[in-house]
Amino acid sequence: MTGDSPQRDGTPGLRPDRPAAASDQPARPGLHSLTAGRGMLFGGDYNPEQWPEEVWVEDVALMRAAHVNLVTVGVFSWARIEPEPGTRDFGWLDRVLDLLHDGGIAVDLATPTASPPPWLGHRWPETLPVDESGHRLYYGARNQWCPSSPIYRERALALVTDLADRYADHPALAMWHVGNEYGQVCHCDDTAAAFRGWLRERYGDLATLNEAWGTTFWSQHYGQWDEILTPRRAPYLRNPTQMLDFQRFCSDALLAHYRAERDILRRRTPSVPVTTNFMGFFKPVDYWAWAPHEDVVANDWYPFPGDPRSPVRAALTHDLMRGLAGGGPWMLLEQATDGVNWQKHNLPKPAGQFRLESLQAVARGADGLCYFQWRASRFGAERYHAAMVPHAGADTRLHTRVREHGAELRRLAPLVGQPVPARVALVHDWQSWWACESDGRPSDRLLVTDQLLRFYEPLWRRGVTVDLVPPGAELSGYRLVVVPNLFLLSDATAESLTSYVRDGGVLLVGPFSGVADPLGHIHTGRFPAPLREVLGASGEAWLPVADDPPLRCRWIADAEQRGDADAPAGTVPDPSPTGVEFTATIWSELMRAESARPVATFLDGDLAGAPAVLRNEFGTGRAWYLATVPQEAAMVALTDRVLADAAVTGVLPDLPDGVEAVRRGDTLFLLNHGAGPARVTLTEPAGELLTGDRVEGALTLAPRDVVVLKPLA
Ligand code: GLA
Repeated sequence: MTGDSPQRDGTPGLRPDRPAAASDQPARPGLHSLTAGRGMLFGGDYNPEQWPEEVWVEDVALMRAAHVNLVTVGVFSWARIEPEPGTRDFGWLDRVLDLLHDGGIAVDLATPTASPPPWLGHRWPETLPVDESGHRLYYGARNQWCPSSPIYRERALALVTDLADRYADHPALAMWHVGNEYGQVCHCDDTAAAFRGWLRERYGDLATLNEAWGTTFWSQHYGQWDEILTPRRAPYLRNPTQMLDFQRFCSDALLAHYRAERDILRRRTPSVPVTTNFMGFFKPVDYWAWAPHEDVVANDWYPFPGDPRSPVRAALTHDLMRGLAGGGPWMLLEQATDGVNWQKHNLPKPAGQFRLESLQAVARGADGLCYFQWRASRFGAERYHAAMVPHAGADTRLHTRVREHGAELRRLAPLVGQPVPARVALVHDWQSWWACESDGRPSDRLLVTDQLLRFYEPLWRRGVTVDLVPPGAELSGYRLVVVPNLFLLSDATAESLTSYVRDGGVLLVGPFSGVADPLGHIHTGRFPAPLREVLGASGEAWLPVADDPPLRCRWIADAEQRGDADAPAGTVPDPSPTGVEFTATIWSELMRAESARPVATFLDGDLAGAPAVLRNEFGTGRAWYLATVPQEAAMVALTDRVLADAAVTGVLPDLPDGVEAVRRGDTLFLLNHGAGPARVTLTEPAGELLTGDRVEGALTLAPRDVVVLKPLA
């Protein structure tokens, strides 16, 4: 995907399986240009425009004491720099950058285009976004701009040009931070016109568009381009392909704006990396398409205290960032030291929690650990959001912890740039996510990110590291490929999965995969049609499961699968912690084994006797298919069997519950997310990087404690 224009690969509506790497600037500087000589990056968003200048001096002294080496400046400073249209006030920013530089602190300088000043919307209301009901959204908060507005674009780029000219040679400038958390969606007339332009490029003519959108359904035929709108609020379910194309368009339109700013910065400062902050599994923006256009992959991550799955979600998200960075290092650009302000009930973080979260990111490939924000605001909508320096000041328990964390991160400098090895890949695709979760589907309880987590969690529990990859990625280096839910499946991706197994790989596919083509049209024939050969199985009906009565399934013993007459009926694969039976939830499918063998069958109702889990020998590999959503313990049992098939083991055997184990380079991280102490037996003597202690045999991790173990030669 190239961003400015929709992809064309000869077939309307198809996308290439992998985003093409940006080819306009081949040798771009990356994260190493920041970490070289600095080690792990540590710092936060710094908003000096909210404070008098004497506080800036104190800030820099405190930053130095806390080992801060990078701050993001100016994210929301458009009105301060351009108080009236066309004016410029850079004097204050000059002084901020000089002060930071004198203090040895590098600057990630933001283009302040995420929040235009009120004058823009006041004079040019057409720059303000319109929601799907046609209501304009006003200034007074932030993000009030339309990605397709020519006036916004012109004003933003003029400012970016002047900012780049002003600071190109400033010694504090280490990275550019474009905008903030891109995600705007707009339904204004400018957007509708831009959407039509995007569709013309994609489909060429109206006849092709009508076919792609299936407009013979409900009399939706378009006779003129001008009739086409963004999918505004309508009386009933909207056209799913129109919705899908609009999601593609929105992601592309934002990317086009990001690239326009980025190109100005790159032209002026070719050796300074450019980034923007991602938001994990943020649905509106296809980060696989964006990542090739970033010099540094950076994420904002705000785990919910009180969510027991939080550590697993975090690990999955960090692995996604590493995948977006092509396996290289990435940075955590925003996180919180304590409670945030934007939930209903903002729980605080107990002692050790933010440190644990930060070190978890390091374990999974982060070379930068930054926070929102440096100093807690006194006013404005985020005055209750945690910071590195709270309202009470530096003489606080929280700030002491911040300092301690800054100091200990220095000891992890040897890990900078180290890879995180993985033998398992997990496939995720934004476009499939959009298409899968369209309105009017069989069940809105089958959610893509829930499915990702269901397949990921048992791997996490076993200490198996996973790479997140897009469809069409090179798979030959992996022993196991997991496809939790790939609703949209192109022939090319199906072929890549098929040949991966043929050549000896192990594949695990979850339900409701391979259902539709890239237009969102259902593949006809028994499903999943494009994967039928590799799975050795096929289905004919998707059957959402009632909450009551439960739908039971039964594991079939290995011997029974082989047809061994002496096998006792109902014995389970060796040894299953779940027992003979498990309960299927949410979803089931009526499947038939072809060359595959059933590994578990449904026991109840119309599905009684039909396979729930299947395993197929194909070529020199194996393919597994799961036709339901089992309870958690059954997912663990299934994962253990699939891991055994793939000869993959975790980085440490017998991990206690709640302990995360992951290796970065040759260094083993053990993180205790559990509520109680956890005893772990090591397989080799090691030096602990944070304390310098020698560790051997068994060790006990207190709750929220982390050890970073480098094997002793
Ligand atoms: C996001 C934004 C920040 C701030 C924080 C609050 O990450 O980028 O500007 O609003 O959320 O958690």
